[in-house]
Amino acid sequence: MNKPKRYTVTTALPYTNGPIHIGHLAGVYVPADIYVRYLRLTGNDVAFIGGSDEHGVPITIKAKNEGVSPQDIVDKYHAIIKKSFEEFGITYDNYSRTSAPIHHKTASEFFKTLYDKGEFIEETTEQLYDEEAKQFLADRFVIGTCPKCGNEESYGDQCENCGTSHNATDLINPKSAITGNIPTLKQTKHWFLPLDKHEDFLKAWILEGHKKDWKPNVYGQVKSWIDDGLRPRAVTRDLDWGIPVPVEGGEGKVLYVWFDAPIGYISSTIEWAEREGKDWEPYWKDEDTKLVHFIGKDNIVFHCIIFPSMLKAEGSYILPDNVPANEFLNLEGNKLSTSKNWAVWLPEYLKDFPGQQDVLRYALNANAPETKDNDFTWKDFQARNNNELVAIFGNFINRVVVLTNKYYQGVVPIPSRFTKVDEETLATVKAYPDVIASSIERYRFREAGQELMNLARLGNKYLADEEPWKVIKEDEARTKTIMYVALQIASALATLSEPFLPFTSEKLKKILCHSELVSESQWNDIPTKEVLLPAGHQIGKAELLFSKIEDETIQKQLDKLEASRKANEAANKSVEPQKDTISYEDFTKLDIRVGTILEAEKMPKTKKLLKLKVDTGIDTRTIVSGIAESYTAEEVVGKRVTVLVNLAPRALRGVESQGMILMTETAEGKLVFVNPDDASVNNGLKIS
Ligand code: MF3
Ligand code: ZN
Repeated sequence: MNKPKRYTVTTALPYTNGPIHIGHLAGVYVPADIYVRYLRLTGNDVAFIGGSDEHGVPITIKAKNEGVSPQDIVDKYHAIIKKSFEEFGITYDNYSRTSAPIHHKTASEFFKTLYDKGEFIEETTEQLYDEEAKQFLADRFVIGTCPKCGNEESYGDQCENCGTSHNATDLINPKSAITGNIPTLKQTKHWFLPLDKHEDFLKAWILEGHKKDWKPNVYGQVKSWIDDGLRPRAVTRDLDWGIPVPVEGGEGKVLYVWFDAPIGYISSTIEWAEREGKDWEPYWKDEDTKLVHFIGKDNIVFHCIIFPSMLKAEGSYILPDNVPANEFLNLEGNKLSTSKNWAVWLPEYLKDFPGQQDVLRYALNANAPETKDNDFTWKDFQARNNNELVAIFGNFINRVVVLTNKYYQGVVPIPSRFTKVDEETLATVKAYPDVIASSIERYRFREAGQELMNLARLGNKYLADEEPWKVIKEDEARTKTIMYVALQIASALATLSEPFLPFTSEKLKKILCHSELVSESQWNDIPTKEVLLPAGHQIGKAELLFSKIEDETIQKQLDKLEASRKANEAANKSVEPQKDTISYEDFTKLDIRVGTILEAEKMPKTKKLLKLKVDTGIDTRTIVSGIAESYTAEEVVGKRVTVLVNLAPRALRGVESQGMILMTETAEGKLVFVNPDDASVNNGLKIS
């Protein structure tokens, strides 16, 4: 085991323009929390730092769309996101926000320092401008074709298809995301960080220094970026939402969000240190501190190239030791998407699965996109719960606790002679902390989680092979030994599960009355301590750790996704083109009235037709309507409808129809009465 160390562990600051979903949790926050909990359990000094990224264009766009201020948006989602992290047991030492005064001050001073050191290039260049919106276009305000991969929907700062990060003026055929207009070019002054100047340092530090220990996906992206040649990058913007540029000529401009946000890690650390009466500087400036950034793959260049160049230019900071970025998680075969509502939102998950945070943490970790994009499916989630958590982990613990209570009133029995199997089993238990630690320290959290489950498997197998429930009938002394060994496994599980299943671990520690026995570095005690649960120690009663998830529960989640899919399909269905122009006279020929359906009956031997009696206000008349596949007769009685009353009568299956009820057809093919407020009725649907 390594010597205790000082660690600064950061997680990408999520944009506060929506709640967070399983993709965020799997890619960044669960692995980071596993890592940090492990570091603490092994007695290290850790600052686990997070916060909300509250600047940037997506937030201003969202505010514009909703007719509220950007501050309203960030206040709302900061609270929601912070709560989700707490509920899922992400144990931050500090969770801050980039709208906090301490952050404005820290980021502002950081910029000023680089400015005073002459680390920026100041340049007036032509930038994209939207004449109608009277606004410069950068980042997400502009969409165009990616010069690298040809994706036609690339943003001004980054292409989500190939991950390339560029300047807005690099886009081919740029279009304003605000008005859709083609932008013009207008002169404006900005400050640029000359990344080219830092190229040699980046090459030596990453390409030579971290070839072995950084993940191949991270190393590869960085290498291709450097190989393409680095260019100066603007770090200020003509916007009004953000941190004001604190130097002469900076009026009306703000810091680029990707300049200020990573400094948020530093401000959040300062906020924490001030509250705790600590010194923040060693966590960022002492060479002995290990700095680790947990992020998703779309953040790689910012954390491996731009932020390190900023830190290096400032001069007094350490650089990250590792940036274990994950790839993306998909959901049931499709890309997670906020706008398409193709996601499992954390607040919704908790409503549907109250108290089952560990199940999601476990399933997400078991499937984490560590080396490639990966798929989350509800079936797999169910299987992980039922076949692993319930059938292996939960089952083993339950048997141990129930039998100990049944045979010994919950008191750990005195063992007699150990067999070879007992000795091997106890030795294997002692080896597990190192096995799991080695995976965690190489950022292989999936593997680590599987090793934990293997320990529970070992326990299950031990009980199944030794069969204490049979042995008790003939050999009490042997039974005591078996239960003693099984209890040691349970105790090791209580400690080793904490990073992965923190809520379960807590419950289990309570059941085993564990806390009286363990020290600060309980992880390291497992291999060295003579015994974990000594004979004579009293444990508590059994409690269910996990429960089976039924097919119906999973089906409900699948139905929810199906509804999202249909809604998207409906929204995408192209509208019919407009018909030829008519005169006002043409229109006045139509006589359309409001009416009420008084009676309805299905026309015999037809699939589609209902015979209706309709009160038109003028009279009560018979109308035959082809809606029987969408409505039953009972459903339509009493409905208020719009009726074209002067349509020439026509006979339908022998019944004269004296008018027409106006309907519209939704994308799913359901005919509905005209009511534009109905959520399934989209713009552009035809009324006929
Ligand atoms: N808000 C960014 C995102 O969600 C991440 C910012 S990470 C930080 O992609 F380093 F800038 F804070
Ligand atoms: Zn691209």
